[in-house]
Amino acid sequence: MKIGVFDSGVGGLSVLKSLLEHQLFEEIIYYGDTARVPYGVKDKNTIIRYSLDALEFFKNFEIDLLIVACNTASAFALDEMKKLAPFDVIGVIEPGIIATTNALTCKEASILILATKATIASKSYQNRLHVEGFNNINAIATSLFVPIVEENIFNGEILQSTMNHYFKNITQPDAIILGCTHFPLISKAISAYFNDNALIIHSGEAIVEYLQNSFNLSRQDKKSNLKLFASENPEGLKTIAYSWLNS
Ligand code: DGL
Repeated sequence: MKIGVFDSGVGGLSVLKSLLEHQLFEEIIYYGDTARVPYGVKDKNTIIRYSLDALEFFKNFEIDLLIVACNTASAFALDEMKKLAPFDVIGVIEPGIIATTNALTCKEASILILATKATIASKSYQNRLHVEGFNNINAIATSLFVPIVEENIFNGEILQSTMNHYFKNITQPDAIILGCTHFPLISKAISAYFNDNALIIHSGEAIVEYLQNSFNLSRQDKKSNLKLFASENPEGLKTIAYSWLNS
């Protein structure tokens, strides 16, 4: 199977990393819209327009499936993309919900959702969790984590005080959904902030599990052949990919 992975920029490399580790596909084409990132502070129509442009890009390749690694694009543009795509399109929100609800046996469990401003405002995660019977939900737009991760800051003072800023009034959650591509890179610090006592939901791992179950995929003998594209500075994307994918 040949697939595409779309993100607003470099963050989707966290999802790509999980896909590569599991060797589920023959070929993966990654496209990051680095010229127009971040999507998480933009409005619905802009996010849809940019995501449809990315869809056009992927139409140049004969892919079987497109994974929308970006939570913000998944929240706003998935339906539009599905309507216009000649291949299957899967976002990260539904797999994240499935991973969360499979792991939590008690409907009273408290769930903390961390995502961009746009994803939180879309209520995509919150509404799906309500449908599943979970009502003890806190959702915070932790936008500052995005540039912090892009500065390769994965621990230390700046991250700690940013976590204090966002989490100081939050009571210990049972589960934390990392609803943004960048947050898996600081998952250790977030988990430690909550005494390593919360279940952490990571989009990359959730989507791998979802793909294995829905498409009956198993590990291939060979590593996936990877091609990286960006709407701006592809060399910059390759440098970050080299560092993040090998960390
Ligand atoms: N990729 C985005 C997401 O997962 C984060 C970066 C952005 O705002 O574009 O929501």
